[in-house]
Amino acid sequence: MNILVLGSGGREHSLAWAIKQNPKCDRLICAPGNAGMAEIAECASIDINDGDVVATFAAENAIDFVVIGPEAPLAAGVADRLRDAGLSVFGPSAAAARLEASKSFTKAICDAANAPTAAYERFTDPAPAKDYIRAQGAPIVVKADGLAAGKGVIVAMTEAEALDAIDDMFGGEFGTAGAEVVIEEFMDGEEASFFVLVDGETVLPIGTAQDHKRVGDGDTGPNTGGMGAYSPAPVLTDEIAQKALDEIIRPTMAEMARQGMPYQGVLYAGLMIKDGQPRLVEYNVRFGDPECQVLMMRLGGQAFDLIQACAEGRLADVAVKWADDHAITVVLAANGYPGSYQKGSEIKGLNILPEDSSNMAFHAGTTEVDGKITATGGRVLNVTARGASLQEARDRAYAMVDAIDWPEGFCRRDIGWRAL
Ligand code: AMP
Ligand code: GLY
Repeated sequence: MNILVLGSGGREHSLAWAIKQNPKCDRLICAPGNAGMAEIAECASIDINDGDVVATFAAENAIDFVVIGPEAPLAAGVADRLRDAGLSVFGPSAAAARLEASKSFTKAICDAANAPTAAYERFTDPAPAKDYIRAQGAPIVVKADGLAAGKGVIVAMTEAEALDAIDDMFGGEFGTAGAEVVIEEFMDGEEASFFVLVDGETVLPIGTAQDHKRVGDGDTGPNTGGMGAYSPAPVLTDEIAQKALDEIIRPTMAEMARQGMPYQGVLYAGLMIKDGQPRLVEYNVRFGDPECQVLMMRLGGQAFDLIQACAEGRLADVAVKWADDHAITVVLAANGYPGSYQKGSEIKGLNILPEDSSNMAFHAGTTEVDGKITATGGRVLNVTARGASLQEARDRAYAMVDAIDWPEGFCRRDIGWRAL
């Protein structure tokens, strides 16, 4: 098969890496891709948020199957456009992608499905929103309704912070994403990510992971896209995972189908767990980045069989082959991230790393210039390893990190601490 992967992050490099291992893959193209993907696939610089552009490119290159990595093309309807063109596509319709693209949509679906989540109200004007915050008190959570590149959520520990967030959001800080605001009860507990494939009907769990959102060791400093992850997440015990499936995920998927927008693709449920009870924090309509990297390392080439069964409505007939293993990924980011950072510094030492089914440096913001790998993004590399224990995986990953020569970058040194 000729397979096209859309995206350019570490998530998409790990997807491409797993797909490449599957014997069904004849030709692999990544768009736009990065320097890591260029080592295992052809890369094409096209606008992946434009369904017409992607459909034309797919036709010209005899593509059979498209895997959509990020949320933006999904929310823009690229999956719909490609399916209309007769292609097999992994990823939800624009209508179903509202589970990530609109917080108020998700809240309404959860209400209809009776799924446990934080109590909330939605507002389109600042004055009533502020009255609500004053009445509820802090801590409280203020969320821009739309996609805001992961920055539209303010967990306010004081009333003043929450009121400021209202001014920022209605003041246009998040553009149209902030035209509507959801104000939520603050949920206490431990967070974990649960990944399932859904083919419109069948829900197939494919793994759990825990992310590290803060930039600094000990979960300090500003929020980022994620500085590291590991899988499995011990906090999501079999019993809690079953509750999440029975009480949250299956009822919301059934409600989506009932309302005429069956969900197809990977569903990422962000859960808050307290006293053995999971509650939904958010849905994402894509793999997590960097959570995908640890899931792909654990699944290997079978990932494409599962992805294909998902797109073809055959999830009821497949099973995941689990190894009793652990994987961890450490994000290397450019100094200054998540604030401003320099681009263009050279990364050395990558060529001496062991790269096999248990050790991989997945690329995120990299590009090759005159044979040198240079940093072009905030999050630049995802050094990923697998082992019989989390400790073994972690030791391997940090040994690789230490072999990389990149003074302009940094990483957290404590990835996995909660589980160790
Ligand atoms: P979201 O973009 O909805 O994932 O929110 C980003 C982060 O904010 C989550 O991963 C949580 O750490 C935190 N968060 C979101 N909603 C809540 C809530 N209701 N209570 C506590 N923390 C929250
Ligand atoms: N790592 C968090 C996310 O992908 O949303």
